[in-house]
Amino acid sequence: MAAATNIVWHEASVDREARCRQRGHRSAILWFTGLSGSGKSTLANAVNTVLFERGLATYVLDGDNIRHGLCKDLGFSDADREENIRRIGEVAKLFVDAGVITLTAFVSPFRADRDKARALVADGDFIEVHCAADLAVCEERDPKGLYAKARAGVIKEFTGISSPYEAPDAPELWVDTGSQSLEESVAAVLSLLEAKGVLKAEA
Ligand code: ADX
Repeated sequence: MAAATNIVWHEASVDREARCRQRGHRSAILWFTGLSGSGKSTLANAVNTVLFERGLATYVLDGDNIRHGLCKDLGFSDADREENIRRIGEVAKLFVDAGVITLTAFVSPFRADRDKARALVADGDFIEVHCAADLAVCEERDPKGLYAKARAGVIKEFTGISSPYEAPDAPELWVDTGSQSLEESVAAVLSLLEAKGVLKAEA
C-alpha cells in the first residue's frame, strides 16, 4: 500500500500549552516496560488512580487491552512487536498533545523501539520506568498461566523464555517490582513525577 502524499499539517487553535494551562498540570508519557507479570499494569493502574483522585487528566494504555482493538491484527514476532510499540508511541504522543498524563504498560522488549517512541516527543516528555522483577519472580507469579504454556512450547516467542527482553540502560526510574510493595512503587513514581515537574509536591 502506498503512503498518502499531498497531506498538509493543520495547526489547532487549542494547543497543548493551552490545555495544560487550563488543567493546571503538564502532560507526559510514563512508559512502563518489563517482563509479562512484572507488575506494569498493576503499577500503572495504581498510579493512574492516585492521579485521577487528585483531579488530573490521565489515561492508561495497556498492552493486553490495546491488543483487543487497535493492535488486534498484530502477533508477537519481532516485527509485530515493533509495529505495536510504534502505534502506541504515536497514540501516546497524541495524548500528550491533548494534555493528558499518559501511562503505557507494554512489555516493549526492544530498546530501539522504546527509543523511537521516546524520540517522538520533546525531551523530558518521555519518562521510562523499568518494572524490574526478575524472570524467576514473574514465572513464579505466572498470573495468566502463560509462562507454563511457554515452557511447554504451546506459546512461541514468549518474552523471557523464547524471545529476548532488552532492559533499559538508563531509565528515568528503576522499580524493583519483584520485592518492593505496590505502595512503595507508587510512591517512587509519584516522586519522580514531582521531580520532573509533572506533579506539584503534595502540601
Ligand atoms: S509487546 O512485546 O508487543 O510490547 P504487549 O505488552 O503488547 O507486548 O503484550 C504483552 C502481553 O501479551 C503479555 O502481558 C501477555 O499477557 C500476553 N502475551 C501473549 N503472548 C505473548 C508472548 N509471546 N510474549 C509476550 N507476551 C505475550
